[in-house]
Amino acid sequence: MRIVLGVAGGIAAYKSCTLLRRFTESGHDVTVVPTAAALQFVGAATWSALSGKPVHTEVWDDVHQVPHVRIGQQAELVVVAPATADLLAKAAHGLADDLLTNTLLTARCPVVLAPAMHTEMWTNAATQTNVATLRERGVDVIDPASGRLTGADTGPGRLPEPEDIFEHCRSYLDAAERADGPLAGKHVVITAGGTREPLDPVRFLGNRSSGKQGFALAASAAKRGARVTLISTSSLIAPGGVDLVPVETARQMEEAVRRQDADVIVMAAAVADFRPASVANAKIKKGFAAGDPDAPTVELVRNPDILAGLVERRGSATTPYLVGFAAETGDAEGDVLHHARAKLARKKCDLLVANEVGEGLTFGQDTSTVHLLRADSEAVTIGPADKSVIADAIWDAVQQDLP
Ligand code: CTP
Repeated sequence: MRIVLGVAGGIAAYKSCTLLRRFTESGHDVTVVPTAAALQFVGAATWSALSGKPVHTEVWDDVHQVPHVRIGQQAELVVVAPATADLLAKAAHGLADDLLTNTLLTARCPVVLAPAMHTEMWTNAATQTNVATLRERGVDVIDPASGRLTGADTGPGRLPEPEDIFEHCRSYLDAAERADGPLAGKHVVITAGGTREPLDPVRFLGNRSSGKQGFALAASAAKRGARVTLISTSSLIAPGGVDLVPVETARQMEEAVRRQDADVIVMAAAVADFRPASVANAKIKKGFAAGDPDAPTVELVRNPDILAGLVERRGSATTPYLVGFAAETGDAEGDVLHHARAKLARKKCDLLVANEVGEGLTFGQDTSTVHLLRADSEAVTIGPADKSVIADAIWDAVQQDLP
């Protein structure tokens, strides 16, 4: 694939050397377009040697080839890392005063911007408005990571690790493969992560689900050509090309799922069955003596069962195909499979993915073991395996059942 790697003037420019290596080593043709400021951090010789191509920052080099138009027109993917506040502002306003900003105006392919800057600059209303404008226009602006910045300060604004940016771009890179993939033409909706039910402005009731399995399912479905909507409570970076709908509570998740017109819905989220009956407007204080009858207690009320609602609404129609998850532990009554069978009979989804949870198992881990259950056949066990391998096995099973 023909990739343009834009580099704006921030200290994180050095990390883009690794990103460039990842692109070239996986067989892509990369043209690096740094800004003049970027060359203050990493010189043209480095970009040129790593990409195997000449490197220009201005529109005045090789003018006979009209590079300010050609580079953007021919690109199949443009990635700018780091994208500074200045670069985001120029992109949002259509300024074109160097080769990179010209390229952004002429590109007709997907554009990924990976911002990096100090927290104050990132949270500044001007930057946030520019990011919102760019996203509205379909530009894929990745949220920066949180952590140590250039000086002693920390906060959101760090360039995500090159490997994470590469992974994010992977679904664009695999575009050709996707167009005739086994899920092409299907709209797949996946929920991921544990819901958070607020108690007061600072506290919530939550659970240990990280969302990793749901994100792996989204990446796998996108690779297979599906249009993917990921409804999630997790702060993980969504795979490129996946439509992310952030939610917090079970009721928000239910509402977001209800709005979708889906061929397949995968309820991988760990949805809280209960929420606090009331949410305090101000932080609940601890100024009560032990045994004080006025000390706060938490009354819980039932949350909607999203999956049960979907099964009910579907009635006798065959779509959407519904996949449920069952986080189970064995007990005196029976093992994980016993409880999972009972849950499948209760939930009446098309496929149930059961996994064993507990100390050091599944939640937050990169690997797990799952049993795939359908009403009329033997359980199939996958793992222990990486969550991406499990995701592939789940889609293989779903694809067998889809018309
Ligand atoms: N689920 C849901 N809405 C809820 C609770 C669960 O949609 N309020 C979905 C989950 O996303 C999962 C499946 O139902 O796909 C099973 O979730 P689980 O918590 O294992 O089952 P419960 O129905 O809550 O049963 P129990 O807690 O009694 O085991």
